[in-house]
Amino acid sequence: MSSSNGGGTAAAASELPRPEGLEGVVAASTALSHVYGEEGRLVYRGYDIHELAGKASFEEVAYLLWIGHLPSRDELETFTRKLWGNRALPDGVIATLAALPADASPMDALRTGVSALGAIDSARFDDEPDLDEAIALAARVPSILAAFYRMRQGLAPLPAREDLNTAQHYLYQLFGNEPEARHWKPLEVYLTLLADHGMNASTFTARVIASTQSDLCSAITGAIGALKGPLHGGAPSKVLDMLNEIGSAENVDAWLTTALDSGARLMGFGHRVYKAEDPRAEVLRGMAEEASDEAFFALSKRTEERALAMLEERKPGRRLYTNVEFYSAAVLAAVGLPGDMFTPTFAVSRTAGWTAHVLEQVGNNRLIRPQSAFVGRTDRRFVGIDDR
Ligand code: ACO
Repeated sequence: MSSSNGGGTAAAASELPRPEGLEGVVAASTALSHVYGEEGRLVYRGYDIHELAGKASFEEVAYLLWIGHLPSRDELETFTRKLWGNRALPDGVIATLAALPADASPMDALRTGVSALGAIDSARFDDEPDLDEAIALAARVPSILAAFYRMRQGLAPLPAREDLNTAQHYLYQLFGNEPEARHWKPLEVYLTLLADHGMNASTFTARVIASTQSDLCSAITGAIGALKGPLHGGAPSKVLDMLNEIGSAENVDAWLTTALDSGARLMGFGHRVYKAEDPRAEVLRGMAEEASDEAFFALSKRTEERALAMLEERKPGRRLYTNVEFYSAAVLAAVGLPGDMFTPTFAVSRTAGWTAHVLEQVGNNRLIRPQSAFVGRTDRRFVGIDDR
């Protein structure tokens, strides 16, 4: 084999483009949602996110994503009865969660819980994914998190109720009391804002798994793993850590300077697609101002302003703006959630989008199987272990 291209390196490497990170690559067709990065716009099934935020319930948005239109009153009633009636977990899933260490990350617990659900309730989840399965899984995701959250504190999981909406029921099952409107209403807006977001990393993961004709729980287990990373959904608790470490307005500049000098990325800023402000950040900023403690909001605002100015100075032309995660931290903290439940709560919302994408994928499936640019060698010969 010729070694003219670098000692036997595959010729294919020079023939194929090397799109590290698949930037700009169109990986699927979808009618669900789209991110218009240059304009800072997000559309779900034809509705700009500003049309829905604070107006549509999470249940209406989930219905919109799964079925394609906003429900009539009758459709919504039938749909919510089904969604809310699907919250109970099999005993085996509770037992699996109970076996995890109390200090396990709730994202690991959720990933494990969804995987266990697929194995334990395999009669329900083993068919080709369909709407009934999507509803059943989306209803159980918050129950899995709440069960783990309570058991890690030595408390028994609470039985599911059918009379509360998704935001209310999640808070009820976590904290064990009737949720107050000042908590569940901002949470509901958060859930509507995060429900879908084009071909993001976790959605792509779910679609790749679904494209192999695997099952819904496998697809969502994989998506949860992808969401967990800080370059995707794992940033908001780190935003909270950052704000807590900064502590007061006079420390903002020094903290940010040290972080940027060390080459760290500032959590809650920058985005692969948005080259303008993330429209969800704008809504969340307004909600954070209303919902959070005045001093915490002032610190968040100051940190945001200085971070944007420093990023512009140090990374001119990169167009780094506030992303959804920055003010998610303030909103979710105001709702009463601890930092390690922020990303799992993102997953509660995104399960609607993930499952809708899985249904879309299986409705017009073609195995997703890209190529790689091979940069390894091709000319080596096996040598027995005694001669190496
Ligand atoms: N802080 C400091 N510098 C940054 C940041 C940041 N938050 N984001 C990007 N940059 C810099 C990069 O270092 C790079 O600099 P260089 O050109 O001098 O090397 C330049 O801006 C361009 O960045 P890319 O790496 O090309 O951006 P990419 O599209 O790969 O990354 C990402 C997007 C991962 C979101 C990035 O902006 C980041 O790490 N942000 C912080 C983590 C975060 O907020 N995650 C949540 C994302 S939102 C979501 O998924 C729900």
